[in-house]
Amino acid sequence: MDKMTLSCIKADIGSVGGHVTPSDGLLECVHDYMEENAPGIISDWDINWIGDDISLLMVHDHGENSTEVHKLALDCLNAGADFARKQGLYGAGQDLDAEAFSGNVRGMGPAVSEIEFDKRNSEAFILFAADKTDCGAFNLPFYLAFADPFHSPGLMLAKSMTEGFTFRIIDVDHHDSYRTIELKAPADLYDLASLLRDNARYHIESVWNTRSREVALRTSADKCRLVDGKLKGKDDPIAICRVQGDFPSSGEVVGPFRLGHYTGGAGRGSHATPLMPVCMGEIISFFDGPAMVMAKAYSVSNEGKLTEGVDLFDAPFWDGVRLKITDKFITMREQGFSGPAMLNIHDLEYGGVVEKLHQLQGRFNIEKPGAAKQADKKAAKKKAKK
Ligand code: F6R
Ligand code: MG
Ligand code: MG
Repeated sequence: MDKMTLSCIKADIGSVGGHVTPSDGLLECVHDYMEENAPGIISDWDINWIGDDISLLMVHDHGENSTEVHKLALDCLNAGADFARKQGLYGAGQDLDAEAFSGNVRGMGPAVSEIEFDKRNSEAFILFAADKTDCGAFNLPFYLAFADPFHSPGLMLAKSMTEGFTFRIIDVDHHDSYRTIELKAPADLYDLASLLRDNARYHIESVWNTRSREVALRTSADKCRLVDGKLKGKDDPIAICRVQGDFPSSGEVVGPFRLGHYTGGAGRGSHATPLMPVCMGEIISFFDGPAMVMAKAYSVSNEGKLTEGVDLFDAPFWDGVRLKITDKFITMREQGFSGPAMLNIHDLEYGGVVEKLHQLQGRFNIEKPGAAKQADKKAAKKKAKK
């Protein structure tokens, strides 16, 4: 059977007015580059953006981690970064490190999600891309879509899914090697939930149908977030999710995003923010947030040609959801830096406050426990002697 690969490579290569949105000129430059250079390497492509991140979706038959395909994407993003520098955009080229290219872009700045699979007759999939958060933001919605019949009735109703799904989870705090675990839903459901509750450390890397072993989901979770023990920033995530047939339907996969659950991100990448489902191309504004996610559904032909993408969060239903999530964000913002509103000290994107706390340690007065009582006793003894 013929195989097909979907690759999505995403980077922030510069944006207007801070971390807000790419400029029109930058988007045009990226588009023109792909139009000129993609033919002959890949069969089709599309460009999406959300907040300050641009993602290149590519269809081809070179398999995952192809040097040719990754080089095309990297050269395109580098051409964009050059343009962004000329325009004076903020953070121009920030997610690229040309020196690090060693055949594929995994391990460099860009986020990558790739799935190679046997072509189905009608291949349907959704591209997710999020900004101002990290891959942990996907933990809850994809857990619910692939493991919870309350949200995903296909798990009960569709024969093709009765054995459930297998999740591969990555520990992104582990520096030295790629540390993963495979857990099955429903058999290991509580173990799965125990890991996925920690959005900062454990990320879903992929999910496949346990019975057919067909891969359904691949996120961009593949890098450790710590470099030399320091958090290197929020890695705005992407994911490719195949739908229907052996997998949940498109409605079941986007459904859990209506929850707008709290995760890490927004202002300075360091706060609790609900994840808001938005239309492709949405800008970032209030408090550099909230964290946002877009979802574009595509079909792809056996010849590797994409249909137009359909913006799944661009429907009246999601307007009401967005209002509810706006309220959730404002409610959390009403307590500023206090308690759960700001992330745990280890998950902050900035080191300033850590240094500050370190310096303040030397200014604390230290009294030994019971020291006050001892002083009282001494004073009483003195008095009695007199
Ligand atoms: C993500 C994003 C934020 C920033 C963070 C640092 O797209 O823009 O997570 O990385 O707010 O911002 P600067 O560069 O202003 O320190
Ligand atoms: Mg940014
Ligand atoms: Mg971003």
